[in-house]
Amino acid sequence: MLKLDNVNSGYGRNEILHSISLEISRPAIYVVLGPNGAGKTTLFRTVAGVLKPMSGKVTWTDRTSTLKGG
Ligand SMILES: Nc1ncnc2c1ncn2[C@@H]1O[C@H](COP(=O)(O)OP(=O)(O)O)[C@@H](O)[C@H]1O
Ligand SMILES: [Mg+2]
Repeated sequence: MLKLDNVNSGYGRNEILHSISLEISRPAIYVVLGPNGAGKTTLFRTVAGVLKPMSGKVTWTDRTSTLKGG
């Protein structure tokens, strides 16, 4: 469904996410925990495609069938 490989992301030259790798491969409810300023919103902006990673890769796979098939 969603995979992040060594994602670095941030604003201008200010890197907020450092080498984030994760994989979500089955439908479930996930939470992202962290204090204010930890980078939660930056992570969501990056997976949503609003922010382009400085390096690394965000991959959405099988999105259509996941949404249809539940
Ligand atoms: N639009 C922006 N431009 C520059 N820096 C930002 C911007 N939004 C957030 N930041 C910075 O990115 C860091 C992480 O913020 P954010 O992702 O909003 O954290 P959280 O959602 O976990 O509170 C903070 O240091 C914040 O100041
Ligand atoms: Mg936030």
